[in-house]
Amino acid sequence: MRQKIVAANWKLNKTLSEGIELVKFLQLKVNEYDKVIKIICPTFPLLYPIGQVLNKEKNFYLGAQNCSAFEKGAYTGEVSASILKSVHCDYVIIGHSERRSIFNESEEILKRKLERALNENIKAIYCVGEELEQRKNRLQFDVVEKQLENIFSLNNEQLSQIIIAYEPIWAIGTGVNASPKEAQEMHRFIREIIAKKDTNIANAIPVLYGGSCNAGNASQLFSQKDIDGGLIGSASLKGEEFIQIIYAAS
Ligand code: 13P
Repeated sequence: MRQKIVAANWKLNKTLSEGIELVKFLQLKVNEYDKVIKIICPTFPLLYPIGQVLNKEKNFYLGAQNCSAFEKGAYTGEVSASILKSVHCDYVIIGHSERRSIFNESEEILKRKLERALNENIKAIYCVGEELEQRKNRLQFDVVEKQLENIFSLNNEQLSQIIIAYEPIWAIGTGVNASPKEAQEMHRFIREIIAKKDTNIANAIPVLYGGSCNAGNASQLFSQKDIDGGLIGSASLKGEEFIQIIYAAS
């Protein structure tokens, strides 16, 4: 049985006080027997203070939304994986579609980011997913397979530090989620691709669903055989809703 994981991607939302209030609310609602891994991914300046209030005994962990492809040096505005590690970050999201499209992050850059994170023992939540036009042309499997090439060059030890998030771009922030059947089909496919490299890792690797996942659809999505939880955007900003998503994974 793979462990369930629910990650909150706050994107460019939540001030420090709002973030702390939300985390405290969630931690009050979850008991110490809750086995779901909860990963909170705030903006960079909030990482350290939010990390200070996260309760690992209740399986709350800290994640960043991005990291630099550079190790250190004269790169104004960048945040390196080693700096993330120094503020006790356990996870980092890499390759989110918003980074790929708005900030032009190429596969090559994402590969370097993955390596930086893994070198620091930070687990990477690697995002893949197709555009609507690509799905209409039945290219979704080709697109995702291509995006997965980056993790193919990793060795097995590194690969076991990866979480995959399947986030169809047409479902992100639109209110239109992939149906449980569509999501399951892609998650199964992702596992099959990874099995070509190593079947044990393919069976063990967590594959999360993201894209308009909310309190209403989470339990149906999470009950699919190959869906191990979710990467949640807007529904993770509201305590009452996000707690329902955590319960749906429990
Ligand atoms: P929404 O849940 O707002 O659709 O966003 C999903 C997402 O991009 C999480 O990374």
